[in-house]
Amino acid sequence: LFGLPDQPAHERVLLAADEQTGLKAILAVHSTARGPAFGGCRFWTYDNELAALNDALRLSQGMSLKNALADLPFGGGKAVILKPAQWNASQFDRPALFAAFARAVQSLAGSYITAEDVGTTTADMLGMQQITPYVSGIPRAGAFGGDPSPKTAWGVFVSIRAGVRQVLGRESLEGVRVALQGLGAVGWHLAEFLHQAGAKLVVADIDAAKVARAVEQFGAQAVGVHEILAAEVDVVAPNALGATLNAQSIPALRAALVCGAANNQLATAADGDALQARGITYLPDYLVNAGGIISVAREYRNEGEEQAVMAEVSKIGDRVVELLERVKHEDSTPGRVADAWARSKLVKPA
Ligand code: NAI
Repeated sequence: LFGLPDQPAHERVLLAADEQTGLKAILAVHSTARGPAFGGCRFWTYDNELAALNDALRLSQGMSLKNALADLPFGGGKAVILKPAQWNASQFDRPALFAAFARAVQSLAGSYITAEDVGTTTADMLGMQQITPYVSGIPRAGAFGGDPSPKTAWGVFVSIRAGVRQVLGRESLEGVRVALQGLGAVGWHLAEFLHQAGAKLVVADIDAAKVARAVEQFGAQAVGVHEILAAEVDVVAPNALGATLNAQSIPALRAALVCGAANNQLATAADGDALQARGITYLPDYLVNAGGIISVAREYRNEGEEQAVMAEVSKIGDRVVELLERVKHEDSTPGRVADAWARSKLVKPA
């Protein structure tokens, strides 16, 4: 836990439990060097408590790097609420559960600010706001704020556009083939942006209804969830869960570029080297998927204004160009260069 090579030390980890609601949560504050630790709350069924802890530690560290590269005045943190498997089939008191979680957030007195992530909703955030001010991503009628997913998707879209220009030498996305793994909150918006730009989509999701909708609306080609990463395309966009780029999947990849929203796509750092060795450019997830945190961070600081947020998210594309330039000069991999770049920024912003 305390500084293993793959898990540099965290400043603080809170285990929160509440008997009445059944809450079991892990709130991980990785770094507050740049400001309060900011990162979403995941509500998920884990195999065991250690798996949940590992997820919280990896995700919170990723948030430190993400927030630093995005030049946000925030550190990195993340929370996970453990969802017992039986809750997937039975009723539980969701508002009470999130109220108990909000009390845990409040107990950290502002060193951690929470937001939406996989398994949580804007309604959960709204409920928590009754108990703690350290929450963002709140829907407000007629005003900026709420669901960060479209902003995340826009950041991934501008990254794909920049990557395609740099790696494939193509000025437009017209006719570029993109495989989308996952058509959820982010994946669906990304599919819309790509379709509007003329890309040809290949899609897979465990939810057949989403796939059918993509085939109908975007003329997408549907493939099985086990075939999507190896589809014959120019770009692969992982938008489901983490660790999909691993020793099994990488040898089968046929794309030249990997760029998607899912957090922790590489199973290990060595998998980034394996991609590079195969001539595949991997754009680090925490660089390209920062659109959502940029959005909730602006909302939290009351600097929410749609156009300004979109302009800030669009700068992710410029960072992709800068990263790929650095990679060329340093003869390294995008993952390693981005990591060093982000770590050099884990200090209080001037
Ligand atoms: P979501 O839960 O709305 O969507 C995930 C989609 O992936 C669902 O449609 C699900 O059915 C599908 N899926 C699950 N397993 C799959 C498999 N094996 N193959 C194909 N599809 C599969 O989640 P959301 O919000 O779209 O997030 C996606 C990823 O992006 C997550 O890893 C999340 O941490 C990350 N992310 C999301 C942000 C946001 O603003 N929502 C911000 C930054 C990262």
